[in-house]
Amino acid sequence: MENKLVSSWWKNVQSLPENYKFPLDQRPGEPIDPLKHSTPIIDLTTHEDGGYAQPAILEQIIKASQDFGYFQVINHGISEKLLEETIGVLKEFFNMPAEEKAKYYYTGDPNSKCKLYTSSYNYQNEDKHCWRDTLAHHCHPLQDNLPFWPEKPTHYREVISAYSIETRKLITKILDVISEGLGLEKGYFGGELSKVQMLSANYYPPCPDPNLALGMHSHCDPNLLTILLQDSHVYGLQIFKNGKWIAVEPIPNAFVVIIGCQLQIISNDRLKSVIHRAVTNSKETRICVGNFVIPSSDCHIEPASELVKKTTNIAAYKSYQYKEFLHAYEIKHGDFEALLQSYKL
Ligand code: OGA
Ligand code: NI
Repeated sequence: MENKLVSSWWKNVQSLPENYKFPLDQRPGEPIDPLKHSTPIIDLTTHEDGGYAQPAILEQIIKASQDFGYFQVINHGISEKLLEETIGVLKEFFNMPAEEKAKYYYTGDPNSKCKLYTSSYNYQNEDKHCWRDTLAHHCHPLQDNLPFWPEKPTHYREVISAYSIETRKLITKILDVISEGLGLEKGYFGGELSKVQMLSANYYPPCPDPNLALGMHSHCDPNLLTILLQDSHVYGLQIFKNGKWIAVEPIPNAFVVIIGCQLQIISNDRLKSVIHRAVTNSKETRICVGNFVIPSSDCHIEPASELVKKTTNIAAYKSYQYKEFLHAYEIKHGDFEALLQSYKL
């Protein structure tokens, strides 16, 4: 398959190609300024004994996950240096010459362990393409997956290993707070529910006409929980709330935490999975590094019985295997409501 990566040709075009111009009803429009809106930012500063400096962390995380389906965390303990190196090594990767990147180009082989693609896995059949390239691979357990990662840039594996380990720890911490907040036993989300970890790095080069293009379609994340590391000052991520798109402020060294569909279902609709998308801009390249915690494909998912017993006593969703949900997601994922509806009891 020919290498169509936008990172390889964007510099050669002055105007947006026709097959990147979305119809009127899908174009970005003006989002609401996040600074005019109370977007949730949670300070995870800890004491020396490992306890949180702010006792209200649990309430804040649960409230944000209920009201917004996402929040940002600051002072999370992962060093600025590692975050900068991570963004840096990914920028270097996408800036490599087209021939070098071609080695990793996704050819449609479902067994490929490291996928570099443009717009979506479905590029061939899309009507319009999104203005982005993505590099995706698994990261846990590290030793099983690392041999499939890019060998260039030379420090890619070293930096991304450290990043994967640190982000997994942070995700585990956040999931522990969420399980406590929901009244579930500690470690509830460990094991099969968070067996898989995937890194998916999105690269959005400057776009000649951001008003007509999209970086990523509106979607909810199908997995359990996602954390995103954004470029320090470039806007692009938006969330959908009360019928409106709100820009998510890029905060240096913060992570955006996104509640995935499985957390909404396991929490019996107490937490919400947020609909979000990415738009482009004409001036700066933007990188957004996603870390997805995903159940194993055979994992049985259902509303947590302890939680159901303590609350309504009525489970809102039937039980299913994660792979069934993923399959339905691939078919219906533009229509989040219909997808969840099909699992309702
Ligand atoms: C994702 C995602 C947002 C972004 O990868 O699922 O929502 O800004 N990314 O790249
Ligand atoms: Ni997403």
